Amino acid sequence: MKNQIEQLKKDKNAVILAHYYAPAEVQEIADYVGDSFYLAKIAKQSKADILVFCGVYFMGESAKILNPDKKVLMPDLTADCPMAHMVADGIIDEMRKNYDDLAVVCYINSTAALKCQSDVCVTSSNAVKIVKALPNKNIFFIPDKNLGRFVAEQVNDKNIIVNDGFCPIHAKITATQLLAEKEKHPCALVLAHPECEADILALSDYIGSTADIIAYAKQSNADEFIICTEDGVNYKLITDNPGKRFYYPDPHPCCADMKLNTPESVLSVLLNEDKEVVIDDEVRTGALLPLEKMLELAK
Ligand code: 13P
Ligand code: SF4
Repeated sequence: MKNQIEQLKKDKNAVILAHYYAPAEVQEIADYVGDSFYLAKIAKQSKADILVFCGVYFMGESAKILNPDKKVLMPDLTADCPMAHMVADGIIDEMRKNYDDLAVVCYINSTAALKCQSDVCVTSSNAVKIVKALPNKNIFFIPDKNLGRFVAEQVNDKNIIVNDGFCPIHAKITATQLLAEKEKHPCALVLAHPECEADILALSDYIGSTADIIAYAKQSNADEFIICTEDGVNYKLITDNPGKRFYYPDPHPCCADMKLNTPESVLSVLLNEDKEVVIDDEVRTGALLPLEKMLELAK
């Protein structure tokens, strides 16, 4: 299957992009593996004709918004991020009416329709930097309450109003589960994604995006870590750090949508080119502005 995929990539000038939460077998065959910010940058820079995006829908959608002339395929178009939809109808208009000097800051884990109504996008690796760089006094942060609160704690000179969305996978990690792991591995450092609830972040030694967690573990002198994010990151963690040990809350956080990306579905979509991301032109141009502003402000 690997050889067939390699040949199809050459014949069609295609590249495979995979998020760190995709299954290990998919990360293994991908040309680029990373967090959502890295993958958005790669999608923008790529010279390929076809991008096969192994992630969830908002990721393939963002790649298409940034590359209208490229064919963006997804191994499974039903792979979705529930949080991407968690903004109540009308609330953005209401906020704009109630607050002057307001910027709507939209986590990239959101639908294109929400991006259209926003001033700037962010990812977990650049949210603090971008919110600090905005001239606005009032910020409405959508959709994630946990990333929003994490940003608000670090930006004291702005009024940050946080929407009530959340990631159902990170929300399932409880303090009881984490404390049980800490008891089993008292020397381990806790590394957490900012999508976790406040009590988990309060128990953590380091908070960062998937790429930041992976980079932290590599440069750290510690050799044991408890990882509070989706367990797909384990592939890169163990590849980069053969001597170190990584533990997860029990049960392991697992995003079923990310796991819909399989080598079989990658091969099938490369062969048939049938699962293409298609976006209405008006929505695409509306969502492009906040995505481009993110790329500019994050430089
Ligand atoms: P990263 O931006 O850290 O890759 O996170 C994406 C995501 O979906 C986290 O749940
Ligand atoms: Fe969405 Fe959570 Fe899955 Fe990330 S882990 S893609 S935020 S559901």
